[in-house]
Amino acid sequence: MCGIVGVVSDNNVSEKLFNGLANLEYRGYDSVGMSFIKNGRLTIRKGVGKLQEVHKKVDFLKLKGSIGLGHCRWSTHGGVTQNNAHPHVDCKKRISVVHNGIIENYSELKRFLIKKGHKFYSQTDTEVIAHLIEENLEGSKIEDAVRSALKKIEGSYALGILFADNPGKLIAARNESPLVVGIGNNENFIASDVPSILRHTNKIIYLEDMEMAVLTKNEAKIFDFDGKEKSKQVDTIKWNAEAAQKSGFKHFMLKEIYEQPRAIADTLNGRLENNHVVFEKEFGLSNSFLKSIKRIVILACGTSWHAGLTGEFMLEELAKIPADVEYASEFRYRHALLDKQTLVIAITQSGETADTLAALKEAKKYGVKTLSICNVMGSSITRISDGVIYTRAGPEIGVASTKAFTTQLAVLYLFTILLAKLRDTLNEMQIRDMMEGIRKIPLQLQSVLDEDKEILKCAELYYNKQNSLYLGRGVNFPIALEGALKLKEVSYIHAEGYPAAEMKHGPIALIDRQMPVVFIAPHDFYTYKKVLGNIEEVKARGGIIIAIATEGDKEIPKKAKHTIFIPKTLYTLSSILSVVPLQLLAYHIADKLGHNPDLPKNLAKSVTVE
Ligand code: G6P
Repeated sequence: MCGIVGVVSDNNVSEKLFNGLANLEYRGYDSVGMSFIKNGRLTIRKGVGKLQEVHKKVDFLKLKGSIGLGHCRWSTHGGVTQNNAHPHVDCKKRISVVHNGIIENYSELKRFLIKKGHKFYSQTDTEVIAHLIEENLEGSKIEDAVRSALKKIEGSYALGILFADNPGKLIAARNESPLVVGIGNNENFIASDVPSILRHTNKIIYLEDMEMAVLTKNEAKIFDFDGKEKSKQVDTIKWNAEAAQKSGFKHFMLKEIYEQPRAIADTLNGRLENNHVVFEKEFGLSNSFLKSIKRIVILACGTSWHAGLTGEFMLEELAKIPADVEYASEFRYRHALLDKQTLVIAITQSGETADTLAALKEAKKYGVKTLSICNVMGSSITRISDGVIYTRAGPEIGVASTKAFTTQLAVLYLFTILLAKLRDTLNEMQIRDMMEGIRKIPLQLQSVLDEDKEILKCAELYYNKQNSLYLGRGVNFPIALEGALKLKEVSYIHAEGYPAAEMKHGPIALIDRQMPVVFIAPHDFYTYKKVLGNIEEVKARGGIIIAIATEGDKEIPKKAKHTIFIPKTLYTLSSILSVVPLQLLAYHIADKLGHNPDLPKNLAKSVTVE
């Protein structure tokens, strides 16, 4: 995890680094630091805490220099201490390094360097990089010293490196951790993501694994690790910097929840044509292949895994294709049985989650075709997939995923329509109904957001509860899991999601007058009546029932203490609507408790370590 940003410019860079870190804080916020070079001197300021807290103590903006690095940390090796905060330096304090990733052979390298006389002051794996470069620097150019060091380190890294004796050059390198280069006017950048530098440039080069960048204020050159220069494409990013700002909302999470009508509308834009679904050229999978597949395996982590479970339901129910959803972290270490008639789909907001990336690489060893559903253009996972469908949620900054999730559901739904049509599992009328259904979703989401007052009321009444249960069935069972995850992530209240009917096999023992139980119970022909029975069971035991029900439902309000209504839609689409009140509930509870939902403790937005 961790976020890195670097700038080489013809003017002072402290504000650019500071703003960059403010946007990257979602990647790690247990400590933060910056380094600058001015008049041949390396200055470092760092400390434990979030950016603003450390800034109050060290005043980052007072620092001056036309070249600098910034880092926000999510600790892996070494506790959360001042010494372990980045940037790290060599013995002579002439080299400064920021790093995102894990150096797997750092103990061995550290022993070697200590024998050579290097003195270490931190417990991090990163510090070995600074010393290793120092060790290789004697009589070499800085580029060669970095290259020699890179050849010795194993693991994942995105690196930014400064040399006090070469104040015009910033060196960066990447292996299995995200890093982009931004091309500005008389200044160039590196960063862990695009939004953190978007207000300065929208011209981006995506670094690949085993690439090194050498930046001066006027030039950005990319090399392989043997020193051969590579010609790289410069992409123009269409997101604007405003998209990565809070725009008057108290938190990014709230802004992103409220952006969902727009995000879904963008995700649908141009993809619904008369009675069929069209994806862009990156989709890359042929109709004949899609007709031939016998099975789909979905790989994902966290919230994206919940989207996968919802997708499984859609694909089996409507396109009649057997689907399995795997935790990427589990899949990669077991010997899955995949054959060429299996399509493997990776679902990931960031496209950089280490476990999903590794699982996808593992799947590719079987020669299967792969598709990614991803929000970040050019991210690592999109580059190794045969095809990509982009969600168009725009930058998601809040650590707890919201708009990325609902846009993933929208894409899975579109993909299901495409398959159902190709494989003739639904007739024209059913396809038309499905397309009509999703077209209405942006407007319907708006009316779910209008229920926010009622949701806030629930938050005010129950924010001090210690536990809660989320129950749903069918397509809304994954939504129960997602609702519980949202609450845990941002409010730190213990919550569990369960299939409603499984409650009687265990969780029912927990129900008492202190236990809020959230039922996701939109009207459907399959399980609605059974869920009403489950509601009665909770009521009989005194549980506090909050229900998500379909507009016009007369039964549920009689039984539940609070009912939040969602508009009537097709059953498979109800999940896109029913998750929104749960996102809002988690948000308001966290806010009532005084937690910052954008930066929940111990979590990071993009988990780029295993
Ligand atoms: C982290 C984030 C979650 C996210 C998960 C998977 O745990 O905190 O919000 O769902 O990673 O991330 P991805 O980018 O692969 O969807």
